[in-house]
Amino acid sequence: MFENLQALPEDPILGLMAAFRADPAPVKIDLGVGVYKDEHGKTPVLAAVRAAEAAVLAEQQTKTYLGPAGNEQFNALMSQLILGDKHTALTSGRVRALQAPGGCGALRLGAELLTTTGSRPTIHVSDPTWANHVPLLSGAGLKLERYPYFDTRSGTVRFDAMLERLNTLPAGDVVLLHGCCHNPTGADLSLAQWRQIADVLLQRRLIPYVDLAYQGLGEGITEDSEGTRLIAATVPEALIAVSCSKNFGLYRERVGLLMVLAGNETQAVASASHLRKIARGIYSMPPDHGAAIVARILSDAKLSNDWRNEVNAMRERMMTLRRALSKALAATCTAEMAAAVDQQRGMFSTLAVTPEAADTLREKHHIYMTRDGRINIAGISLESVDYIARAIGSVVGR
Ligand code: LMR
Repeated sequence: MFENLQALPEDPILGLMAAFRADPAPVKIDLGVGVYKDEHGKTPVLAAVRAAEAAVLAEQQTKTYLGPAGNEQFNALMSQLILGDKHTALTSGRVRALQAPGGCGALRLGAELLTTTGSRPTIHVSDPTWANHVPLLSGAGLKLERYPYFDTRSGTVRFDAMLERLNTLPAGDVVLLHGCCHNPTGADLSLAQWRQIADVLLQRRLIPYVDLAYQGLGEGITEDSEGTRLIAATVPEALIAVSCSKNFGLYRERVGLLMVLAGNETQAVASASHLRKIARGIYSMPPDHGAAIVARILSDAKLSNDWRNEVNAMRERMMTLRRALSKALAATCTAEMAAAVDQQRGMFSTLAVTPEAADTLREKHHIYMTRDGRINIAGISLESVDYIARAIGSVVGR
């Protein structure tokens, strides 16, 4: 049977990690996979995570099963972190949340729920979107289409074109929105634009599916969930997939959450029962360790405060790097590219760099980025910024 399988090319993002590690060059820069890095290029374990992990290990009495919904304390605390504890969606009982194996697991769970409803809607994703959205969502059987989102030249959101497309979609279709820190572009919607989108979704009876993977790394922990809060306050039904990989630095622990917002509490309870059945049929239940750490942090005032400070420091470091890169690009590339990098938010920017130019940057300058021109801002250091800007300038020009 297996003789029919041909070896596949590496994953466009994860494959870069392996290629970077294998590169023997003494000077090499990894702007590929989306992980936070400090000035020394290290991805540290957050101090709040270390302290919470020690407490979890000291206090844990059993490792017996929790069930397909995972850690319920984590589910409740995360729902409050995202929506705010007084949000009407929560107080009306219309929300249920399930812990999931990472943001990817959460996205897939939600996609499986959509196909379970029997209506098999089309899901519309931004053009461009995170490469892994495609297999995660279409793998569940959803038909995938793209709405216009990004103007590569100016580095800004094509908001009118996006709105125009949403205004043509049939009722019941699903629209995937990046809650903040758009991956791969870094071009986010303003709150006023979120409001307009929410109104269109409501009027056309479209279902928003928000992917919130970078909360705290754009404008602030609360600020980055404002769009999601607005959507949840406006529409009757929504899905929200959340990742704790970046803002808690728990990447390999696989910590995520899926929230379902239903028309009423009975429908929310029914939806959650289907989600538990789906989870049971795929992986039975999510791993507990990382979720237990997050629950320990969010239930402890001091740890919570320490964690918030660490998230703020990561965000501010990336803002400093953005400004430095923008300034350096102004001297080597176009003014538009420099301005876009400055205005975009979060871990990524997509530069107007062709796939061939990205190959040249990797082969000649040992700068690793995905072939769509996405760079991880956290992979830059103040020391490397001029080298990076000069190299990009040599393949792009002014
Ligand atoms: C990324 O976009 O680089 C991260 O979300 C890591 C991944 O799984 O692709």
